[in-house]
Amino acid sequence: MAPDPVNIYEYEEIAKARLEKGHYDFIAGAATDEITLRRTRKVLDSIVMKPRMMVDVSTRDLGTTVLGQKISFPAMLAPAGNHGAAHQEAELATARAAGKADTVMVLSSHSAKTLEDVANAATGPIWFQQYFFKDKELTLGMAARAEEAGYTALCMTLDAKISPKRERNMRNDYVGPVSPNYAHLDLGTHSWKFAADAPAGPSDIRDQTTTWDDLEWLASNTKLPIVVKGIMTGEDGRLAAESGAKAMIVSNHGARYLDTTFTTIEVLPEVVDQVAGKAEVYLDGGVRRGSDIFKALALGARSVLLGRPLFWGLAVDGEAGVSSILEILRSELEATMGICGCPTVDSISLDSLGGISPLQQLFNARG
Ligand SMILES: Cc1cc2nc3c(=O)[nH]c(=O)nc-3n(C[C@H](O)[C@H](O)[C@H](O)COP(=O)(O)O)c2cc1C
Repeated sequence: MAPDPVNIYEYEEIAKARLEKGHYDFIAGAATDEITLRRTRKVLDSIVMKPRMMVDVSTRDLGTTVLGQKISFPAMLAPAGNHGAAHQEAELATARAAGKADTVMVLSSHSAKTLEDVANAATGPIWFQQYFFKDKELTLGMAARAEEAGYTALCMTLDAKISPKRERNMRNDYVGPVSPNYAHLDLGTHSWKFAADAPAGPSDIRDQTTTWDDLEWLASNTKLPIVVKGIMTGEDGRLAAESGAKAMIVSNHGARYLDTTFTTIEVLPEVVDQVAGKAEVYLDGGVRRGSDIFKALALGARSVLLGRPLFWGLAVDGEAGVSSILEILRSELEATMGICGCPTVDSISLDSLGGISPLQQLFNARG
């Protein structure tokens, strides 16, 4: 019997061998040339950490809070459509694993299971992700449904107004199912319109006219705190906080919408700076190691979110697979914190990261 995978990359390798090519490419792929996707890992890998000695790290506390909700370590599950592509229990399995790990799962409105069924299966905190729809009643109605079902925050994805060009999906003629969350709307059978001849689907009901005023409008019409997703500039971060967002996710949607953008970790410091504590700031994109979580926290994020890794966990072993990817990241983070002399998440700071290499400093000083 092959040994269990020891890291997220090994989970992906096994998942790739098991998944249908169309599903694998849909999950792994990104927009056009996938340049930002590759840049994401390059940048994260290039940030260096500083080990520190003689600090009491006999107990390491990874716990934190997001919107006042305690989570056992600073990694949540990002909203991602159709977990059914990776496992038949889909989001029910993911929700149970998130609960077991004592962290938040953000459910995508494109889930394979209804938001109510996922809420019933969940044993931990859950947030709901949706869009601004052309029909304002639908926007408020979905938010109300989520609140009624027990979701405690509303994640509004801002970066998905325009359909992206994803060439892997075009080549595979890939179509995804319409989520049962939209069952009452009669949107046909195809959710993702990558196939040239695919009929209209849920993305066509999104409102492309929205401005920050719409965020203010939503914030004053729901009791749920709003988390906005897709912030990639300091200015948008500031505007989101001023327009009623209680938290935001620095995200480029896993490089799945626009290619050749900065990576999220590159813009994180500017967002943190301009938001100036008026809202919580989280980050997603390319987090595959506990050290990536450490780097994001050192650069000012309160937590990270994981997208593709949850699918690799699901594809390999359902709920247990998702539990395992979370435990791998938790233990990698715990070790990183210990070696860097950071016994708590609050003690992780910019001082823990490298900056210009000492050799480069020497050469610069020589002129
Ligand atoms: C297969 C897949 C489906 C996704 N579906 C959604 C979605 O429905 N709503 C959303 O806001 N983001 C969606 N995302 C983006 C994720 O929330 C997240 O921003 C991204 O996956 C983070 O990068 P990572 O996959 O490198 O961790 C999806 C991502 C993937 C991989």
